Amino acid sequence: MKVVTLKSPGGLDNLQLGDHEAPGEPGPGEIRVRLHASSLNFHDYAVVAGMIPVDDGRIPMSDGAGVVEAVGEGVDEFAAGDAVLSTFFPPWQEGPARLGNFATTPGDGVQGYARERVVAPASAFTHQPAGWSHAESATLTTAGLTAWRALVVDGGLKAGDTVLVLGTGGVSIFALQFARLMGARVIATSSSDEKLARLREMGAEHTINYREDPAWGKTVKALTGGAGVDHVVEVGGPGTLPQSIEAVRIGGHIALIGILTGREGEIPTAKLMAKQARLQGLIVGSRRHQREMIRALDASELRPVIDREFPLESIADAFRHQESGRHFGKICLTW
Ligand SMILES: NC(=O)c1ccc[n+]([C@@H]2O[C@H](COP(=O)([O-])OP(=O)(O)OC[C@H]3O[C@@H](n4cnc5c(N)ncnc54)[C@H](OP(=O)(O)O)[C@@H]3O)[C@@H](O)[C@H]2O)c1
Repeated sequence: MKVVTLKSPGGLDNLQLGDHEAPGEPGPGEIRVRLHASSLNFHDYAVVAGMIPVDDGRIPMSDGAGVVEAVGEGVDEFAAGDAVLSTFFPPWQEGPARLGNFATTPGDGVQGYARERVVAPASAFTHQPAGWSHAESATLTTAGLTAWRALVVDGGLKAGDTVLVLGTGGVSIFALQFARLMGARVIATSSSDEKLARLREMGAEHTINYREDPAWGKTVKALTGGAGVDHVVEVGGPGTLPQSIEAVRIGGHIALIGILTGREGEIPTAKLMAKQARLQGLIVGSRRHQREMIRALDASELRPVIDREFPLESIADAFRHQESGRHFGKICLTW
């Protein structure tokens, strides 16, 4: 079967397509899945680019969507033919977060889904939303669930709330879509005026070019009549957090998600304190969160925004496209 592996020390030129022996029959509690799609996340890029060191021969990609081919003894949740979707933290089924690293995350600490088949515990998958393609479903494992958890699980999003989303990557576009789905207002930023126009078409009420307006936090505040937003989906990190603190309302919520501008930096702590805002870090979510998100999606018309699909063989080109920053929403791999 086709498998992509990453040769140490990483780098897009060290992605290798190979032919490996296919896995056998699933054991008790396991399923065998014929994988058909994955989607690219910044985390996957950090792995393949060598920014996150992984074992030599690591199979990349955290997201995997496909069809159940066979089920092992005792599996009653899935049957052959079911369309399924991988989870980001296979051991985290439900309850509060207990994992603070990527040791169990496919495509990082353990083998990922850039391959044709996998045998895995049934508990490492959920059903896909009804009627979605494998590529569409694959966008949910990481990006979709992160946005869902930020706004719905941790944020307690309510109709009428105002949400600020930063940039037009996978997480931010899902956050915009979930916010709109749940009756919230959206303010969105991007470095590109063309992308800002697309954000408005998707229902963003106000948009700001963060390159042209480096003090965008103040602008957001002004756009909300001086009050600030209820939620910020903070994907930038140290380079954007001071503006996000400026933009959030007193008592608001900042979901600290990303590292697009770096891993550490100065934070105006006194301002955060005065804002009495909740700054909550998060990494994706549990299997239960994924099932709850899919339940909501099954009741909605929402579909992910896929910028481009690449065949598995062109995985390096797919990451080069992500690296260019030209994308809007998700980039997918299909096979
Ligand atoms: N904690 C978690 O669970 C979790 C889960 C998923 C992702 N993440 C993190 O969230 C971040 C986004 O991930 P992703 O997969 O959505 O990335 P992505 O799809 O590659 O999105 C990148 C986009 O971010 C925007 N961006 C870059 N620099 C920015 C800045 N200074 N201010 C505002 N926007 C900026 C750009 O949008 P424009 O082109 O519109 O400017 C760019 O296209 C990454 O740091 C990733 O590691 C965290």
